[in-house]
Amino acid sequence: MRIDLETLVQQNIKNLQAYRVEDLKDGIKLHANENPYPPPAELIEAFRARLAEFQLNRYPDPECRGLKDAIAQRTGRPAEQLVIGNGSDELIQILLQIFCGPGDAIVFPDPTFAMYSLIARGMGLEPVPVPLDERWDFKAEDLLAAAASHDARLVFLSYPNNPTGNCFSRSEIQTVVEQFPGIVVLDEAYHDFARQSFIDEMAEHNNLVVLRSLSKIGLAGLRVGYAIADPFTVGEINKIRLPYNSNTVSQAFAEQLLRDFSPVERQIGVILKERERLAEELSAHPKLTVFPSDSNFILFRVEGNGRSLFEALMAGGVLVRDLSAHPRLNHCLRVTVGTREENDQFLAQVRKALA
Ligand SMILES: Cc1ncc(COP(=O)(O)O)c(C=O)c1O
Repeated sequence: MRIDLETLVQQNIKNLQAYRVEDLKDGIKLHANENPYPPPAELIEAFRARLAEFQLNRYPDPECRGLKDAIAQRTGRPAEQLVIGNGSDELIQILLQIFCGPGDAIVFPDPTFAMYSLIARGMGLEPVPVPLDERWDFKAEDLLAAAASHDARLVFLSYPNNPTGNCFSRSEIQTVVEQFPGIVVLDEAYHDFARQSFIDEMAEHNNLVVLRSLSKIGLAGLRVGYAIADPFTVGEINKIRLPYNSNTVSQAFAEQLLRDFSPVERQIGVILKERERLAEELSAHPKLTVFPSDSNFILFRVEGNGRSLFEALMAGGVLVRDLSAHPRLNHCLRVTVGTREENDQFLAQVRKALA
């Protein structure tokens, strides 16, 4: 049988395009906000020693007990407030599934992480972007007004915000958390670089969900994210989360990484120093406007043509993220902080291309 498969696809899916990132085979990858350093050698060694113990013929622990215990120790949050995701992306999707039905609105400052809108649209929800101001910040009043007028169920706040790099004003977020009568998701994927958090607010505000990720600090390939939420919300997530969403290897590796975090702390320290150096060097260039960053990446605007700089960098073997498809990010590129050598090569290519 041959069927016109397109006629079977839901309308909201038909209108979507697959999430696509450019790739470069043998170049320097500064496009995905990953940690440029591999996991510390001592971690790999400890892991190698444990590998034989894994019962890979058995399903993983559906409760992720060891990993949750390690997270509880690092965050001070008890295991009953934790859920592990196959990356924090998965938790974004699950939260939308729990709290929103077809046609419901979700609100977020814009520009922000593209997946909020993409996942929402895939589920037949209505994304309501609220434009950020020229300093990439927002007023709670505007966000709350947009949420009220669309009867929104959920607000996403990326803290710090991807792709602008900054943390929004704490007081504005605080007002949203206190006044929005729905779920506020504080996406702290870049927490380790900003070292600011809203988890302490959770005791008072049961509508707050904090998301964290291990993708930015060295384990992007293992897909580990987690949510910290009210035990009630955790219970709802557990109802629809696939029981084995987190695999044995990812759980064990993530647990080890978190139990001895000092080598990663050192990597983060180097990345933060490099971020300052990169920002300074880019700012010195008359054709570039650099936006302040609390993350492991930097957003900058190119006077003239951002796309041609992107392409010149690509031809020179350096991949960054071209964000110019977004109307507010005309001629803007985002570069992830790499190793010192990678950053040097990136800077050299930038100078060459703009000369
Ligand atoms: C703000 C934000 N949230 C979530 C994610 C997804 O992280 P994960 O790899 O844990 O799915 C990203 C990844 O780029 C991000 O930038």
